[in-house]
Amino acid sequence: QRLLHDALPGAEVLIVANREPYIHIRTGQKVTVQTPASGLVSALEPVMRACGGTWIAHGSGNADRETVDRNDKIAVPPQDPAYTLRRIWLTDEEQDGYYYGLANEGLWPLCHIAFVRPTFREEDWHAYEIVNERFADAVAQEARTEDPIVLVQDYHFALAPRMIRERLPRATIITFWHIPWPNAETFGICPWKERIIEGLLGSTILGFHTQFHCNNFFETVDRYVESRIDRERATVTLGGHETMVRPYPISIEWPPRALASQPPVETCRAEVRRDLGLPPDIKLAVGIERFDYTKGLLDRMKAVDALLTSTPSWKGHFVFVQVAAPTRSKLFAYSNLQNEAEALVEEINQRHGEGDYKPILLIVRHHEHDEVFKLFRAADLCIVSSLHDGMNLVAKEFVAARDDEQGVLVLSSFTGASREMSEALIVNPYHAQEMAQAIETALSMPAQEQRERIRVMRQQVQERNVYRWAGRMLLDAAQVRQRQRILDIGN
Ligand code: F6P
Repeated sequence: QRLLHDALPGAEVLIVANREPYIHIRTGQKVTVQTPASGLVSALEPVMRACGGTWIAHGSGNADRETVDRNDKIAVPPQDPAYTLRRIWLTDEEQDGYYYGLANEGLWPLCHIAFVRPTFREEDWHAYEIVNERFADAVAQEARTEDPIVLVQDYHFALAPRMIRERLPRATIITFWHIPWPNAETFGICPWKERIIEGLLGSTILGFHTQFHCNNFFETVDRYVESRIDRERATVTLGGHETMVRPYPISIEWPPRALASQPPVETCRAEVRRDLGLPPDIKLAVGIERFDYTKGLLDRMKAVDALLTSTPSWKGHFVFVQVAAPTRSKLFAYSNLQNEAEALVEEINQRHGEGDYKPILLIVRHHEHDEVFKLFRAADLCIVSSLHDGMNLVAKEFVAARDDEQGVLVLSSFTGASREMSEALIVNPYHAQEMAQAIETALSMPAQEQRERIRVMRQQVQERNVYRWAGRMLLDAAQVRQRQRILDIGN
């Protein structure tokens, strides 16, 4: 907030993101508000609460969509309004083509090395273009100034930066790509690669989580688009317009709000075990995320299987709880994953279970932040085994939840987070025995070692929190705006 005020006086902030931070759902006369399971929302919501402005998103709840006037603006957060949420009501066809189709059957598997074949259909591309136009129009409608700061979020909106630039040439457009950017050869699979690159290069600043993804982007631009790349200054110039391409590792708010309302760790441990029908002294590992094939859920279950096979003495003394929030279930790759996971859990539980003892509990439902933090606090270890992940904020939330400085993080080497959190037990999720060994190490780790490791990670998350992530982008934006002002005076 102070940064916006000092470095960017009078600047107006608009966000373009597919996901809305608050989903308003009507059942009969009652409206309830849900917060979605989304790394993007966890990261950006605190920033918007601090600086105010307008968040433009696809309206996914039914509450205001079904009113006579289709109320598309609402002040949020509901209890303590700080900014405006502007909903874009997409038709079913738009949603199928743009979100399920191009974004999640095309770009999502394209950018993650998770061995699900990307699917590209002409009609999905048209829907994607149309929806990007609709959001660019909404930015132009909502902007009160000619040079707002527009934060465009993620792979749903690769075309929007250029479209917004056409409507508001003086806007400062900061685009952040929340998922990995693959190598040039892989990106070449996309039939509309040039359009996507040109769209993104409408941005003033284009951010990725890591330098590695920036390098992949430079190589992709170099291969497919006529432009000037200056690697030293980290810029690409296309048609006279310069875009800065930088790494900005995303993070979480600090202190995390969900921590404020938590009971002591001992209470969390006892209550969670009681609620799950587990003995009070059983060791507990947790995994919490969207039910997505990039997260390596099956792989960690296989690691639990390998552990109980190699060390049967853990049977009855160790349970793995997987909380998986349903997501994109309309797509076969997702519904199929759920079926596979349920069958695998059943098989492992039959192999190693006995009486009431089941080594894996799979809970498929949405969890609010408070519940997630309680589970983190109750656990002895947390497993993040993504096969490929831009950053992974679950890893950061787990260490943030542990103000008792206990608990072990088992973390995939294929997450952006593993570059920053080297005190975690870093694993290759494709290797069940290696992961089983890491779980065993975590279960037997002395309290002092847990403390040393988690302390360093907590400090790192505290320092490099989401305000710093946003702050670094805004400072870079302030410099560009200053340069622009000087040029304007010269002209
Ligand atoms: O982390 C990648 C990401 O696409 C976020 O950008 C997004 O918020 C999250 O996954 C959840 O996906 P969806 O919005 O499709 O449920």
